[in-house]
Amino acid sequence: NETTLKAFRASILHFTADPALSEQAHHWHEDGLLVLEDGRVKTAGDYDKLKSTLPEGALVRDYRGKIIMPGFIDTHIHYPQTDMIASPAPGLLPWLDSYTFPTERRFEDPEHARSVADFFLGELLRCGTTTAMVYCTVHPESVDAFFGASEQRNLRMAAGKVMMDRNCPGFLQDTAESGARDSEELIKRWHNKGRNMYAITPRFAPTSTEAQLQLAGELAQAYPDTYVQTHVAENTDEVAWVQSLFPKARSYLDVYDQYGMLRPRSMYAHCIWLDNEDRARMAATGAAVSMCATSNLFLGSGLFDFAGADKAQVALSLATDVGAGTSFSMLQTMNETYKVARMGGTYMPALRMFYLATLGGARSMQLEGTVGNFAPGAEADFIVLDPKATPLLERRTTRTDSLEELLFALAMLGDDRAISATYAAGKQVHQRGE
Ligand code: GUN
Ligand code: ZN
Repeated sequence: NETTLKAFRASILHFTADPALSEQAHHWHEDGLLVLEDGRVKTAGDYDKLKSTLPEGALVRDYRGKIIMPGFIDTHIHYPQTDMIASPAPGLLPWLDSYTFPTERRFEDPEHARSVADFFLGELLRCGTTTAMVYCTVHPESVDAFFGASEQRNLRMAAGKVMMDRNCPGFLQDTAESGARDSEELIKRWHNKGRNMYAITPRFAPTSTEAQLQLAGELAQAYPDTYVQTHVAENTDEVAWVQSLFPKARSYLDVYDQYGMLRPRSMYAHCIWLDNEDRARMAATGAAVSMCATSNLFLGSGLFDFAGADKAQVALSLATDVGAGTSFSMLQTMNETYKVARMGGTYMPALRMFYLATLGGARSMQLEGTVGNFAPGAEADFIVLDPKATPLLERRTTRTDSLEELLFALAMLGDDRAISATYAAGKQVHQRGE
């Protein structure tokens, strides 16, 4: 039984806890070694301590001067919106009507869907993102195209067919019954096929009838190890709309709660206009927040309340929300996250942002031990960051005095150019400059 061993020498960073809660949350090996066996992490530590454990003649890939860390996890992104990123509109609802819905219509064509999925995954890997929670469109073909492209690259991805049966153009509507039936077929076809995972995806409460939310909630209960993803409390006009559509609900979040959609593996994007009762409910049920800084600033949706989330101890993760998000890069997303936190009176250290973009995302998806850090046995999804990727980055990072300062400079100044290489399940899937 032959095993394949691979080793990489670089500075190594990963997390085993939230730096906001523990002083020993991060592991930093200035001269480190990451050892893989059969696409999984065998060990990560100091080069000096581990080199003697390597078999005679083992090949060590030399990335000295660079930083190896787990691949980024983007917990909310729309692959069909790739071609409409950076489209201007005065707020969420006009943006959906003018750009999003017409763009998503094209995904009834499986070839179009596959070509966008291929580009999209290439872009994620260029930016160092190895796991994402992805919206497809209402068309089941768009899901087959996405999972096919993801399977070909052996990536750990969650995705699902958008369910929407009202308040959107007829060409994008399913029905309560067809939406649930198609979703269940897709679960059977794709969930846990290779590294793919299915996400039940009602777009958001305004575009689903009560009958559709009922069936989506029943699916979520019948398949508890699938994901649920949707949007909540992104924009004040949207919140008012939900209030008028569901007058009996205590809050926007409560609509989803009524239908059994608050549970572990449920991911709620935005969560800006929640109250303390909503946050307590999310924490109690194990539902997670996906915070989307570039999108929230771009659409003028509002400022996420970090203090409120931390006080309630809600599971927290970061996301791009492309196409309303303005960058595929989780480094650029950290940059804007930092500023949103500042505006709300919270100081967010770089260490915490790198935690949120790796292990925090994995925990929010109930994937700790599978991806998100270098625990032994974890799938070897990792990136090689170059602190000298641009003249400015080089100039700035050679003048830093601590790990925190180095990471902070990378988060503020870094983007896809700082990602030298990306690996999925131990295999290189991106090389900068190629
Ligand atoms: N709410 C419902 N659909 C969408 C979407 O596609 N993008 C964003 N940002 N919010 C939404
Ligand atoms: Zn979104």
